[in-house]
Amino acid sequence: MGRKVRWGVLATGGIAASFTRDLLEMPDDAEVVAVASRSAASAEAFAERFGIPRAYGTWAELAADDGVDVVYVATPHAAHRAAAGLCLEAGRAVLCEKPFTLNAREAGELVDLARERGTFLMEAMWMYCNPVVRRLVEVVRDGAIGEVRTIHADFGLVASDDPGHRLRDPAAGGGALLDLGVYPVAFAQLLLGEPDRVRADALLSPEGVDLNTGVLLGWDSGAQALLSCSVVADTPLTATVTGTAGRIELPRGFFFPEGFTLYREGRDPEEFRVEGRRDSYQYEAAEVMRCLRAGEKESPLVPLDGTLAVMRTLDAVRDRIGVRYPGE
Ligand SMILES: NC(=O)c1ccc[n+]([C@@H]2O[C@H](COP(=O)([O-])OP(=O)(O)OC[C@H]3O[C@@H](n4cnc5c(N)ncnc54)[C@H](OP(=O)(O)O)[C@@H]3O)[C@@H](O)[C@H]2O)c1
Repeated sequence: MGRKVRWGVLATGGIAASFTRDLLEMPDDAEVVAVASRSAASAEAFAERFGIPRAYGTWAELAADDGVDVVYVATPHAAHRAAAGLCLEAGRAVLCEKPFTLNAREAGELVDLARERGTFLMEAMWMYCNPVVRRLVEVVRDGAIGEVRTIHADFGLVASDDPGHRLRDPAAGGGALLDLGVYPVAFAQLLLGEPDRVRADALLSPEGVDLNTGVLLGWDSGAQALLSCSVVADTPLTATVTGTAGRIELPRGFFFPEGFTLYREGRDPEEFRVEGRRDSYQYEAAEVMRCLRAGEKESPLVPLDGTLAVMRTLDAVRDRIGVRYPGE
């Protein structure tokens, strides 16, 4: 694929707008050719706002558009399975927002579908594509801090307490864990893989979604991850990785870091910085387009097996804290 990659955007909410804005800043590589919404009016308004040529009032029309190479799915999580499935069935490559789906069963169905069809599929886990995070993984794998023993990470903010907001709505897959906790869990699993044990505790809302959640992951190696997420507390948003020979600290906003500090016994702290915009979705968009041009069906940076393993951990946490979504 020597030409520009032709993107379709499915849904017209907050992240759909942010991602589209970033795609439009990659004019040599990408073009946004279509948008779909549950309503024609929203699709048209979004198309007009961003200068997108085709606007559809149904997802099926976007899925059927042969002029689209890849669809970016940006609905609330409870709709990811249906939206991404429709596009994969139609042979469209898919980049699907995090959390990938409501649960591991749905995630497995999408992964099976993509693999059977030989169609590209990736979770929009933009943290894994961030150059600072990629550098951190290299530094850890090179043994700079020895064997990883402990990971601390948190993602908490004070969100709307309107029971109609998607974060409070069980039907939308609400709660802190799936929306925010997916980052600390994915961060820990990036470095240590799937845990052998999962423990958790949470404060639940009257509607039954988790508001304030603590997770302890354990590995047979003796490594542990102590993670938290919240929609009722503005937590530091930091991460620390401690090994047998040193420690790495990521400052506030660990999931889109501007850099990190490496501490080693007997040495001055070492600062790692990478040039470029830290809050950019262009790193994940670039990875999708690299894969499409190379004919790769899965991204080695955001592997589907890793996505499935994270979804299994999120299921296990929800099992421990008693959160069930409608239909489960
Ligand atoms: N990567 C990131 O940094 C990041 C940041 C924020 C959110 N996210 C993820 O992106 C997804 C969307 O989040 P958001 O903040 O953009 O939400 P949002 O602002 O509420 O927008 C979601 C959009 O999805 C559509 N939608 C709403 N309810 C729906 C339903 N019941 N079924 C199907 N579609 C529905 C709507 O578009 P239409 O009216 O056009 O159908 C809506 O505008 C979530 O999974 C979230 O976790 C990722």
